[in-house]
Amino acid sequence: MTTFYVTDDACTHGPGSLSEGFQEDHIIECDFHGGCFDIRDGQVTAPPCMEPIKTYKVVPHDTAVVIEST
Ligand code: FES
Repeated sequence: MTTFYVTDDACTHGPGSLSEGFQEDHIIECDFHGGCFDIRDGQVTAPPCMEPIKTYKVVPHDTAVVIEST
């Protein structure tokens, strides 16, 4: 079963775009200064980042997935 995770693209430390970073397992690394986040809950896993990124709930819907925005 495939699991989807959705987060904001913007790094909370600066101008980094996380979609241009590097992902391994559940950790995404910003390519600007190497800060890391857990894509499951947005928590910081490596400095220099201090603030978590926003994550969104993903709901399977027929052959698509729906992202719940709050
Ligand atoms: S801008 Fe992402 S770690 Fe600095």
